[in-house]
Amino acid sequence: MMSKGKFITLEGPEGSGKSTQALLVADYIRNCGREVVCTREPGGVSIAEQLREILLDTKSRIYPTAELLLYAAGRAQHTREKIMPALKNSKFVICERFTHASIAYQGYGRGLSKELIGQLNYIATGGIKPNLTVILDIDIKTGLKRVKSSEGKLDRLESENVTFHEKVRNGYLEIASEDRNIEVVSALNTEEVIKEGIIDILRKRDII
Ligand SMILES: Nc1ncnc2c1ncn2[C@@H]1O[C@H](COP(=O)(O)OP(=O)(O)OP(=O)(O)O)[C@@H](O)[C@H]1O
Ligand SMILES: [Mg+2]
Repeated sequence: MMSKGKFITLEGPEGSGKSTQALLVADYIRNCGREVVCTREPGGVSIAEQLREILLDTKSRIYPTAELLLYAAGRAQHTREKIMPALKNSKFVICERFTHASIAYQGYGRGLSKELIGQLNYIATGGIKPNLTVILDIDIKTGLKRVKSSEGKLDRLESENVTFHEKVRNGYLEIASEDRNIEVVSALNTEEVIKEGIIDILRKRDII
């Protein structure tokens, strides 16, 4: 990848603490004197945030293939409009959910072809890959309980059944076992312990 910045993605099931850790890790890196852009998927830029509304609306009835393509369309825009320019400007980019979410949710969860998803991910990202992906691992019950207590209601994906969420979680763990750029961190510790764990990984891998 022709860029000077570093690209970190945070993944994991619902309520695993991605948003919490994105803020904590970004703060730490900023204190080290580096510029950080925090972003998320679905969304991150206006067009993709509009797609997010559609994707997460409990009233939307979306066929799995359409869901896959909507995520890919949002990612294509997000990557070009926000992630690539930030990386070119030597910034850190921390993104909540990215390509691996499509494999976990639409591949393992919905049962769509992982090969097809890989091709769409390649098209959507123009081939850029995270320097590191951290999967925050949590059991489904605890994760959904956290979401419910913080947001009060569940979005379209969060409202899926437990079997779906189990498939997603196991999918994430399988993806992690096949890729050395992915690390799994337990989401059951305190926020501070999890943050330290992620920073340790970033240091050991010479990312910070
Ligand atoms: N380590 C932790 N221990 C206990 N509660 C936590 C921890 N980390 C985050 N939380 C709480 O759990 C809830 C969900 O956390 P957060 O929003 O960071 O998760 P998320 O992975 O971004 O969720 P979503 O999948 O909905 O985007 C929040 O209320 C947050 O304060
Ligand atoms: Mg979040």
